[in-house]
Amino acid sequence: MKLLVTGGAGFIGSNFIHYWIEKHPEDKIVNLDALTYAGNLENLKSIENNPNYKFVKADISDKEKINEIISDEKPDAIVHYAAESHVDRSILGPEAFVRTNVLGTFNLLEAARQNGNIRFHHVSTDEVFGSLGPNDAPFNETTPYDPRSPYSASKASSDHLVRAYFHTFGLPITISNCSNNYGFYQFPEKLIPLFVTNLIEDKKIPLYGDGMNVRDWLYVEDHSGAVDLILQKGKIGETYCIGGNCEKTNKEITYKILEFMGKDEKMIEFVADRKGHDLRYSIDSSKIQHELGWTPKTSFEDGMKKTIQWYKENESWWKKIKSGEYQNYYEKNYKDR
Ligand code: NAD
Ligand code: DAU
Repeated sequence: MKLLVTGGAGFIGSNFIHYWIEKHPEDKIVNLDALTYAGNLENLKSIENNPNYKFVKADISDKEKINEIISDEKPDAIVHYAAESHVDRSILGPEAFVRTNVLGTFNLLEAARQNGNIRFHHVSTDEVFGSLGPNDAPFNETTPYDPRSPYSASKASSDHLVRAYFHTFGLPITISNCSNNYGFYQFPEKLIPLFVTNLIEDKKIPLYGDGMNVRDWLYVEDHSGAVDLILQKGKIGETYCIGGNCEKTNKEITYKILEFMGKDEKMIEFVADRKGHDLRYSIDSSKIQHELGWTPKTSFEDGMKKTIQWYKENESWWKKIKSGEYQNYYEKNYKDR
């Protein structure tokens, strides 16, 4: 099997590639990524010379290039992770979100359709369903869409396009809507890696609003396991919701990180709230659990301990990001390949 993974130099995509190479070493992987600020090929350093792995630098908003790559590579399946992924950035500059998440997904769907109806798995988010009140039932596959940020609106739009290609053209698609991931290689702009790395550097940690917003946390390796099952056994045309069954307020997360790192609550700095800040996300994963036998394996305690340890042991990885040096990695190591 040959997989073309988009966004494989990002957080979840690179974890997925590591997972896949370990689980299915006979398979071939093409990692297609534009290397935006969020793409870091150092995430894949340990496998960059694996003969079954190949990196291709390309922007999914470039329709001709994408069609050319897919027609040359002829993958058996496309696993689509590439996206602009950070809500705060979508508030500051929404345009890139429309270009990559909407237009880029459209270009990939067209290329998949024009090159023999290639199997297409689209990785999406629980944020497309909107914001829950404290006592609302969790989101599931039948929850109506109600995106509220430019990020979630662009992801919702891409989900609709993917479903439209199934109904209209018979493209063999599946979609997954996942809750908040955490783990190794997460860019230190997101809550957990930002707070952990700031605390290692003895810097304050900025908690938005009153810290009472709720997210449902999933260890990234468990997300990769779910996407693997969907690719192997998922029903074409279907959507699967993936969650950690682990709802926590941001305050709870913050106090857990402080506890594990032996730091004082004086390190918290309450700052202005995010505009349009969704109150609560929660996922009901019973469909993927019952139909495909998936279940999250990593407890929050274990996942957080492993994650904090990883950031402590890999200071040079995130320090290069904070200094901007990571953006030279491609030029230094890939130029002559
Ligand atoms: P990330 O920001 O860490 O990585 C995104 C990757 O996509 C980067 O490598 C970047 O270079 C690449 N990319 C961006 N624009 C591109 C373009 N135009 N062409 C090609 N490549 C491009 O994101 P992530 O957190 O790993 O998220 C991956 C996917 O999972 C996204 O689709 C996101 O919506 C979804 N998701 C994320 C989470 C989460 O908690 N992080 C949860 C649910 C779903
Ligand atoms: O729910 C899935 C989504 O989870 C994904 O689709 C997104 O790609 C991913 O970025 C994530 O979105 P969130 O906005 O939930 O993640 P973030 O880490 O940015 O924020 C988590 C919560 O923490 C949110 O309520 C805002 C808050 N926060 C975040 C940051 C960066 C803070 O309080 N302080 C911060 O500095």
